Amino acid sequence: MEGRFNMNVFEIKGGKRLEGVVDVGGSKNTALAILSAVVLCDGKIVLTNVPSLSDTRIKAHLLERFGAKVAIDGNRMEIDCTDIHPGEADEETVRAIRTSFYLLGPLLARTKKVELPAPGGCKIGARPVDFHLKGLRALGATVELIGGTYFAECEQLKGAEIYLDFPSAGATQHLMSTAVLAKGCTTIQNAAIEPEVTALAAFLNRMGARIEGAGTSAITITGVDHLEPIEFRVPADRMQAGTYLLAGAITGGDVTVRGILPEEQTAVVNKLREAGAEVEEGPDWVRVKVDGRLKGINVKTMPHPGFPTDMQQPMAAVLTLANGTSVVDETIYESRIGHIQELNRMGANIRSEGRSALITGVDRLRGAVVEASDLRAGAALVLAGLAARGKTSVKNIHFIDRGYESFEKTLADLGAQIERVPEDPSLAISDGNH
Ligand code: EPU
Repeated sequence: MEGRFNMNVFEIKGGKRLEGVVDVGGSKNTALAILSAVVLCDGKIVLTNVPSLSDTRIKAHLLERFGAKVAIDGNRMEIDCTDIHPGEADEETVRAIRTSFYLLGPLLARTKKVELPAPGGCKIGARPVDFHLKGLRALGATVELIGGTYFAECEQLKGAEIYLDFPSAGATQHLMSTAVLAKGCTTIQNAAIEPEVTALAAFLNRMGARIEGAGTSAITITGVDHLEPIEFRVPADRMQAGTYLLAGAITGGDVTVRGILPEEQTAVVNKLREAGAEVEEGPDWVRVKVDGRLKGINVKTMPHPGFPTDMQQPMAAVLTLANGTSVVDETIYESRIGHIQELNRMGANIRSEGRSALITGVDRLRGAVVEASDLRAGAALVLAGLAARGKTSVKNIHFIDRGYESFEKTLADLGAQIERVPEDPSLAISDGNH
């Protein structure tokens, strides 16, 4: 899907118990939301703790197409949006990431006219943008889709009352950002309360925006004339943190994630406890310890603070080895199921029924050649490989590189045997299902 295929695989020798401490890096989804909102500011913004991922690099590249000057030094990114112009985005870059679309409103606020090809992103469901379009139109923009490109124009964006039919994280972030420079007051009802929304609001307010209620389902934005450039540290990635906790759990290990907000792990922590893991929490850390076999549980994804859809696939990997049966219900996306066939290839027993997966726990997984179909499916397969007997090769790891910084190094530091190696052509998957 992303057109940035890299011919490496993760080679994992399973069976090592993971143990140790992980310092979790910056949040991909917060960084991506901020990297849309930066164009609202006529000046140079400095972001620190930006995760070094293909998605953040693609977003930075996209910003350059609209006149931003971007300098990247490790996890520090300087973005000068003084000379933003309507630009011209190449379709391949826009389609590579979903959040390219979230630039539309902020760009419109600065340049009054924007053309943007329709977005892409992981193939986990239809992922329409109707809430975004409805909101942008309510704010006074005309937006039309012609031949795969959105053409948007406005005179002056104006405050509006917006109601979201579903608390979409992306639509909340996009419309909240767009409303910051609109004239008058905007309300967003049934807004998403994901931590990435709160972090984005904190970033915008630090620049002088007037946003109240972020983190609740009613957000009010009072328009301002301009924003001041600032330096901002991207908070920790709750999905990376959750993934490392689950990696600890699936290997019967003892893993602490540090530098995080434990309250963002509530759903994962409670489900791990329910499955029999021992979990401790401190002011900025969570530790999971598993002795013996976990037991099967039911998991249902929900908007925050429910169980996050992004942890559904890694959690399913953990439950393949639990004692008894588990039911995993995916309620956010229609087809976040790319991990199921591949986990079954490793000896798991998962039956998929619509958006539900019925998992009958097995005693062991065995190493196999498997293929990531999207970011979190890739993480699930790596977790399964860590616990499996023998060697697992995970292909299509460009998906994993979208969301996990130094994944193999972090896991190796915890004691995993995992390496990134060039793909061996003989690893071709033979059953023709892919
Ligand atoms: N939706 C609509 N219409 C819209 C927008 C959303 O019907 O206009 C639906 C979606 O199809 C989906 C639901 O609303 O069924 C929720 O989608 P949401 O807009 O909340 O998702 P998103 O903003 O596209 C972000 C994350 C996802 C994460 C979801 C849910 C980013 C870049 N992506 O997506 O992260 O799964 O929120 O929390 O922030 C990932 O990191 O692996 C990932 C996919």
